[in-house]
Amino acid sequence: MTYIIAEPCVDLLDKACIEECPVDCIYEGNRMLYIHPDECVDCGACEPVCPVEAIFYEDDVPEQWKDYTAANYEFFEDLGSPGGASKVGKIDKDARVRRRAAAARARALTRCPSPRRRGVGRAA
Ligand code: F3S
Ligand code: F3S
Repeated sequence: MTYIIAEPCVDLLDKACIEECPVDCIYEGNRMLYIHPDECVDCGACEPVCPVEAIFYEDDVPEQWKDYTAANYEFFEDLGSPGGASKVGKIDKDARVRRRAAAARARALTRCPSPRRRGVGRAA
């Protein structure tokens, strides 16, 4: 088991979590941070310090953010286990699963335009 970072982190990247992790296993991508599932020791120290509550124990990830569990695993598929985020620095990519989740949200918004975009309330 591991902890997972979910959607509230996207484009915010507060990074308070990094300071708390005793094993330096929270890695930075372009648009969010990812917890290494093999390096995480499940201590729970990162979870309460995130100001937007983006971090969850793997079993407790809310249904609407389940894709982010796969995203945290997928992010490390080609990286292996570097053994420490600080020596790696920012990694120029994001998980494909995360990008698919963002695309699905964008499509949902297109299907459900706001009243303003539909012309509701506009003067004739
Ligand atoms: Fe993201 Fe929260 Fe850490 S916003 S960078 S998971 S403190
Ligand atoms: Fe690190 Fe503990 Fe979180 S090992 S990622 S601070 S659960």
